[in-house]
Amino acid sequence: MPMDRDMRQQLKIVMVPILKAFILLILLSLSVFAQGADPGFQTRIAQGSKFVQRFSGTGPLPADDGSDDGNAPIDGSRKILKAEHKGHKGATTADASQPTNGGPLIGPDGNPITTPEKPRFETNCLGTWRITTPNVGVAAMQLQTMPNDKVVWFDTTFLGPSALQWNPPGKNCPINFETNVPDCYVHAIEYDGLHDTTRPLTLKSDPWCSVGSLSATGTLVGSGGYYKGRNAIRLLKSCPNCDFTEKSFVLGNDRWYASQHILDDGNLVVVGGRKSFTYEIIPPDTLNIPIKKFDFPFLQQTTDPVENNLYPFLYLVPDGNLFLFANNRSIIFDHKSAKIIRELPPLPGGSRNYPASGMSAVLPIKIDPKAPEKVYFDIMVCGGASPYAFYPVDSVQARPKPKNVYWPALQDCNKIKLMDPNPHWEKDMLLSPRVMGDMLILPSGDLLILNGAKKGAAGWWNGDDPNMTPELYMPKQKLGNRFKKLAPTHIPRMYHSTSAVLSSGEVLVAGSNENDRYVFQGVPFPTEMRVEKFSPPYLDKNLDKYRPKILTPPKKVKYGGHFSFKYAITTPPPQPLDATDLKMHLLSPPFTTHGYSQQQRMLVLDVILRGPDTVQAVAPPNPKIAPPGYYILFLVHRGVPSAGIWVRLVTQ
Ligand SMILES: *[C@@H]1O[C@H](CO)[C@@H](O)[C@H](O)[C@H]1NC(C)=O
Repeated sequence: MPMDRDMRQQLKIVMVPILKAFILLILLSLSVFAQGADPGFQTRIAQGSKFVQRFSGTGPLPADDGSDDGNAPIDGSRKILKAEHKGHKGATTADASQPTNGGPLIGPDGNPITTPEKPRFETNCLGTWRITTPNVGVAAMQLQTMPNDKVVWFDTTFLGPSALQWNPPGKNCPINFETNVPDCYVHAIEYDGLHDTTRPLTLKSDPWCSVGSLSATGTLVGSGGYYKGRNAIRLLKSCPNCDFTEKSFVLGNDRWYASQHILDDGNLVVVGGRKSFTYEIIPPDTLNIPIKKFDFPFLQQTTDPVENNLYPFLYLVPDGNLFLFANNRSIIFDHKSAKIIRELPPLPGGSRNYPASGMSAVLPIKIDPKAPEKVYFDIMVCGGASPYAFYPVDSVQARPKPKNVYWPALQDCNKIKLMDPNPHWEKDMLLSPRVMGDMLILPSGDLLILNGAKKGAAGWWNGDDPNMTPELYMPKQKLGNRFKKLAPTHIPRMYHSTSAVLSSGEVLVAGSNENDRYVFQGVPFPTEMRVEKFSPPYLDKNLDKYRPKILTPPKKVKYGGHFSFKYAITTPPPQPLDATDLKMHLLSPPFTTHGYSQQQRMLVLDVILRGPDTVQAVAPPNPKIAPPGYYILFLVHRGVPSAGIWVRLVTQ
């Protein structure tokens, strides 16, 4: 029976105050309970409301032109952010260990954590693979991502036809610089990393096992190689119709299997190469190279009967000196005087450079705005092979080779904290052995370990048992929990394979040639023409709702200056974000060949919130910590990165 209308009204009059009182009582007891359980509860509620209040205010932003040196007096909003950090100090985080009495929180990696962060958003996704181009035509021996997301790669010009003819076929056959006969095949391409189209490029001198890096203007400067390319310079600008310009016989020494890195002043240093126990400094963006060469006996001391110190690992360290790892020894040296400043402890276990080709990367470099010059610089050296692995496999002429000549690759993965007073190697283990792998810094700040073999060494026909399962290295996890197996590919990628992180957050994977020519039949590992893209776990669709988007990308960023941009999150969260929920990651695009991504680094910047839709950060303080040039900027929300945008870090 329906209730009488008047009766309902009467009930309402009686019940509403009772209900109100009841709800109040529940709320009160809840708050008392919560206070008892978490003394920070009330403070956080209060701060939360202040936080919201601040958003409605419209205080002026510090200038974004770099005029602010980052030491400006702390304004009201920053004070509130500081108070919030204090409020969260006792909160547990995924990464932090127990806070010491009054001292800074120490992370599991031994570095202090200044701003405790909330855990990352979780995903069960292990990544996905897809083939984007079935037959790209040119083997990706060495590869550079350009500041327009075009990925340039090339192979040797010397060893016969590629799988891509100049179009129209037979009509465009430039004389091969080396052999003096017409060559109708393409040996270098520009691959559009976002749209998967290709454009052929012209190479004259042979870039076989050469080196390269991006200069401060975004020009690819390729050095060395073989034959008439062995001391050549090749320049490629990033513009829609640009092609290589090159000049042979300009370097001070032959640079075959050398390493290269940009310096803080924008010059480039080229180190080593087969039988070249020297390094030289070259100016960028020019084919006129004044010889500025230094003898460097360390390169001679670290070579052995099969060399094992080629493509040495080279980094510009934050004091402006260089770190060099060759075979199993490493040093810090002053490139202005060729003086070794210190030798670090040797790394036992085997050899790490070509042909024992291990992997190396520097972990993301966290910039503390309060002490911007003081950064941690932790270098990883992982995998590789026994110093004796190359000879048995390389000396066998039989095809296919007997299985017993392939020695197991190394599985250890080691870290050295360069800024420690007494740096030493801390040993961890990969989940599987790997030689000729790649180690890329992902937009999330984790490392991706992929490609390579479980057995053998670098060199044609020298790899076996391809390692098709990538691993994620999570530097902030506790020792023992840092590695995770990701979804495997089914395409072997061993010798002369490469990979690159794109601004979309995807990873392009290309190349692999265990043969000295383009061979597609009758061999265990045919020349690989398929291009793949790997979507790391952070691209999981289920995380899209958390994904930030950069709305007003800055183009240039000045050292030490404030810069800001507007952003949005796909599904705006119900609560306003904490500043610690967001980070800016600046990733320099490396030149990747032979398992080593040269000139790769990531800078991690704290974020200041400026209203509900604007984030601000202080740019890296100087070009020693972050060499000048192009970086991909990602806004990262608790481990979920935005698509990246290209920014140029400049002095002026
Ligand atoms: C470093 O390599 C050299 C040459 O292979 C070897 O003689 C030496 O014992 C190695 N050092 C360590 C610590 O493994």
